[in-house]
Amino acid sequence: MCGIIGYIGKKNSIPVLINGLKRLEYRGYDSAGIAFFRNDKIEVRRCAGKIRDLEASIKNENLKSVIGLGHTRWATHGRPSEENAHPHRAGGIVLVHNGIIENYFELREELKKKGHVFTSETDTEVICHLINRYAQKGLGFEDATREALKHVEGAYAVGIINEKEPDKIIAVKKDSPLVVGTGDGEFFIASDIPAFLKYTKNVVILENGDMAMLTHQGVSFSNVQTKKPLKKVPSKISWSPSMAEKGGYKHFMLKEIFEQPRAIADTIRGRFSVGKGEVNLDEFSMKESALKNLNKIFLVACGTSWHSALIGKYMIEDMARVPCEVDIASEFRYRKPFIPKGSLVIVITQSGETADTLAAQKESKKLGARVLTICNVVDSTSAREADSVFYTHSGPEIGVASTKAFTTQLTGLYLFSIALAKAKGKLHSREVKKLFNELLLLPEKVGKALQCNSAVLKIARKFCQVRDFLYLGRGINYPIALEGALKLKEISYIHAEGYPAGEMKHGPIALIDNDMPVLALAPDDNVFEKIISNMEEVKSRGGKVIAVATEGNTKVLSHASHVLSMPKTNYYLTPIIFSIPLHLLAYHMAVLRKCNVDQPRNLAKSVTVE
Ligand code: F6R
Repeated sequence: MCGIIGYIGKKNSIPVLINGLKRLEYRGYDSAGIAFFRNDKIEVRRCAGKIRDLEASIKNENLKSVIGLGHTRWATHGRPSEENAHPHRAGGIVLVHNGIIENYFELREELKKKGHVFTSETDTEVICHLINRYAQKGLGFEDATREALKHVEGAYAVGIINEKEPDKIIAVKKDSPLVVGTGDGEFFIASDIPAFLKYTKNVVILENGDMAMLTHQGVSFSNVQTKKPLKKVPSKISWSPSMAEKGGYKHFMLKEIFEQPRAIADTIRGRFSVGKGEVNLDEFSMKESALKNLNKIFLVACGTSWHSALIGKYMIEDMARVPCEVDIASEFRYRKPFIPKGSLVIVITQSGETADTLAAQKESKKLGARVLTICNVVDSTSAREADSVFYTHSGPEIGVASTKAFTTQLTGLYLFSIALAKAKGKLHSREVKKLFNELLLLPEKVGKALQCNSAVLKIARKFCQVRDFLYLGRGINYPIALEGALKLKEISYIHAEGYPAGEMKHGPIALIDNDMPVLALAPDDNVFEKIISNMEEVKSRGGKVIAVATEGNTKVLSHASHVLSMPKTNYYLTPIIFSIPLHLLAYHMAVLRKCNVDQPRNLAKSVTVE
């Protein structure tokens, strides 16, 4: 995830910026840069790679400036490179940006027609050009920024400096975090508090639409559109630096679970048009004609990403009526798969570097298939080697156990299924709009689902000492049973198994006794009555049933000893909502058992060996 730091004060800003960027390293990044004043001109230094490379490149320059901006970039549009690194410049305007600009393509084309020359592949550069354009028309720095941002759609946290008004930093926030730090005669902006925690603990957290103007005299706040002044009182942060890195959460995993409303919102941003009833196929780097001609799909992945693949099969076959096969990558690569003409292989990988997945991807290409990767890390090997890429915009995942990457993969698969179904003539525009409208509600519903956290903690307290755990699901939620079991195993070291509930009587039922907790996924769907019968089978043998059900369902209450209620959504999105209590349960059980949640034993975040 990108990181921002900005400084104005009496100190030399260069070491403050470098130190601030180092404090943001934990967020993950692929390039870094700073901007500062020298002889009344703004200069920019950037490089692909690490902050220490940037530091080494400026070491002998003896740079001094009392005002400056710094940035670490996690690529979303355009590969990691020096040209794509921030700060970006247009004329005298230099800025750093976090977030995603939805309409950057249209804006860039318009600006190009007016003679603007772009030097990067980023969405960010359009904001600089827009502000510069208004500045050239005679508007002051502040008004040019306000005017430019009227045209920008999407999420942004920006820090801006201007050669013509050298004693100011302007910062604006919309849907991407930005904070202001107020010290003694020195002021900061940052994407995240740890960037300046060493210098001040007084913080103002900006709200959507807030503009902050930082000068040597202080900070003033206003609404970016109405110009109305805003009164903001800094609060004192008592977090330790390590707590601050995790946004006040105890572990990265918990932070990432709670980041999901934002991660999903970023993943759907600009990816479809409700008005037109269309998925933006550029985001899959595919043409509708290519989709039309597909007659078979293979979904290939490892671990949690394989669970996404299993759910993808339900979505694709149900919506688009195209047959799908799902494979674990380490099996696919050696099984001599038969891939008929007109097949697409969809590879799913958070890191884009998993050895087995990459080998399966290579094998698919060798066998003549087209490959689409659904991937989180821009310019990873999988992304570079695939024919088409859909990037999930969940931001870097630091906890070893995958959470937000999983739900954003499912979001990508939902969009792909709609696009395919539309191309195949299996969905009406009316139905497509309905599916989009439900997707638009998803971030909010995920936020609502997260409110189960304290109820889940209570359940975890009750069961954290058990030896085994069984998870049951049916249909599209059967893979969520597998996912719940995998998460519990990997971070709490409790033996757990996920089963399709109808299969229980063919073996696992022998395990049920008074000590066996069974978590049953029981949404309101076509197999609800069936799962209720399975819950009864468990209950009658003394097992303890924890049910995850749709809110408002009262029938489930008499069949379970604990019920977690989840907001209602459509059939295809239920797995996203229902994964939330399961990830939280694994998390709390692991914490109660004093396990190393973010770095479980024997596991690595990116499995780059076979
Ligand atoms: C489980 C987990 C792993 C990964 C798997 C694939 O919580 O994180 O099972 O899902 O190692 O990794 P990617 O998606 O990077 O290919």
